[in-house]
Amino acid sequence: MSISIILPKDKIKKEFKRLSLKNSDIKKIYYANKNALIILKKRVKIKPPKDLMPSKELEEEIKKIDNFVEEFKYLIELERVAEISEQISEIKGFSAKEREIFGRAILDLKGQKEPKKFNLYFVRFGRERVIDTQISPGDIVLISKGEPLKSDLRGTVSEVKKHYIKVAFENLPPKWVYSFGIRVDLYINDITFKRMEENLNQLRDADQKRREVRNIALGLKRPREIKKVDFKPFNKKLNTTQKEAVSYALGCKDLFLVHGPPGTGKTSTLIEIVLQEVKRGNRVLAVADSNIAVDNMLQRLANYDISLVRVGHPARVLFELEEFLIQAKYEKSFEVQAIKKGWEDVGLLAKKREEFSKPTPSRSRGMSYDRILTLASSGKSQRGVSVKTLQSMAKWIEYDRKIDSLVGSLRAKEEEVYKKIIDSSDVVLATNSMVLSEVLKEFEFDVAIIDEGSQQIIPSTLIPLMHSKRFIIAGDHKQLPPTVVSKEAEKLKKSLFEELMELNKDFSKMLKIQYRM
Ligand SMILES: Nc1ncnc2c1ncn2[C@@H]1O[C@H](COP(=O)(O)OP(=O)(O)OP(=O)(O)O)[C@@H](O)[C@H]1O
Ligand SMILES: [Mg+2]
Repeated sequence: MSISIILPKDKIKKEFKRLSLKNSDIKKIYYANKNALIILKKRVKIKPPKDLMPSKELEEEIKKIDNFVEEFKYLIELERVAEISEQISEIKGFSAKEREIFGRAILDLKGQKEPKKFNLYFVRFGRERVIDTQISPGDIVLISKGEPLKSDLRGTVSEVKKHYIKVAFENLPPKWVYSFGIRVDLYINDITFKRMEENLNQLRDADQKRREVRNIALGLKRPREIKKVDFKPFNKKLNTTQKEAVSYALGCKDLFLVHGPPGTGKTSTLIEIVLQEVKRGNRVLAVADSNIAVDNMLQRLANYDISLVRVGHPARVLFELEEFLIQAKYEKSFEVQAIKKGWEDVGLLAKKREEFSKPTPSRSRGMSYDRILTLASSGKSQRGVSVKTLQSMAKWIEYDRKIDSLVGSLRAKEEEVYKKIIDSSDVVLATNSMVLSEVLKEFEFDVAIIDEGSQQIIPSTLIPLMHSKRFIIAGDHKQLPPTVVSKEAEKLKKSLFEELMELNKDFSKMLKIQYRM
């Protein structure tokens, strides 16, 4: 029998020394819960101290989590690479004209500047000839002077019309976009993959609070018993089964699943759950994988008197729901004028700074900023740098430091406003992946309500789960599974919803009456 020991991840070296163990004594290491489970080779005969001996249960947990994280990180990497290479080979394998016929590219465009909005730069790419394309709002596109493989300019489509396509950029786009012969190609968004990977890493080392949810989601633990909760429905049309599903969902301590064929009222049931949770004073995270599904929930919730905020890229949110966007709420906040004024001051200071000599390495001869300031105030020249240059550089540094500190405080203020908006909302709506965006990633919710759960890959569903205490998922595992491009990553086609339905059928309710004909 091999001996296994458990150590905090950052104490391996120290403890090994204490136990007189060598790296060559290790057969395998598993990492989870900020610990390392070390399996020693059979030949190693030591008697480890009691506190380093893992229980059977903990050993199983750490192995399972490590294997799971490694496997799924590998699968999503396969899928990411497959999706990118599919795009690139398509761009390479077909002529520009062919790509345009397939609706995957638009040629012969010319850019025109549009007003800035929500900190985004908009460009309208137009032409005489009618545009007929598959590219639609929310898509990521690659903009080029005709050769997409030579460009790395990416933007998000915000509007597609007969004679133009509007694209939003996070940074000021280069001047060439305003010339003739611009080509726009459909591209992939790989930030969602980065976020899934980040979440898997966090899930591996989840703190005690989040470990419970994680272990239930991964089938290491059974959910706690449900005690049905009575409620007075907001939606008077709900049928008996739908109402029962709501009662169970409200009474669940860990998880509840709502399933049923298309049009049986899964989303309607989730909406009722959201409203009841808000009524009980809980903070709700309402998510789905697609923007359309999130907007669908938002549209229905907008009929009620609760405070809602939609976190997402403005180009991917339905125009008529714009008022719910966090960016729109930010623009309306009372602090925004002061912050805007602050940014104008930054611009003025930067102009002022330009009047002085920048301490480039050649000009300052390698002297530090502090050294330059001291010399300038004492009026001494050094290393062949004249007093005049030193004093000009000192001025430059003074302005630079003012800018830095102002920018820092403005960013902090902006963040505070965004946090306040989230804090004061009853329901936050976003896609799974956006839960890991800058504004949301530090937040934790009382409950996550997840729609269209059967169309999401497991690493995606796990993002909102790691930000809430309980979760309720609606889905239909008999419908199409999530799309997966990579042949080797087929395993991703099984959603967490489907997995959980197999493990916890007794924690689910099936809706049967179809309303949509
Ligand atoms: N109990 C009910 N009485 C009358 N109409 C209902 C009832 N439940 C749902 N509906 C209506 O049926 C339609 C479909 O409902 P809903 O979108 O909630 O179903 P779903 O199961 O989420 O559908 P999908 O599978 O497409 O996501 C909606 O127009 C909704 O208002
Ligand atoms: Mg639905």
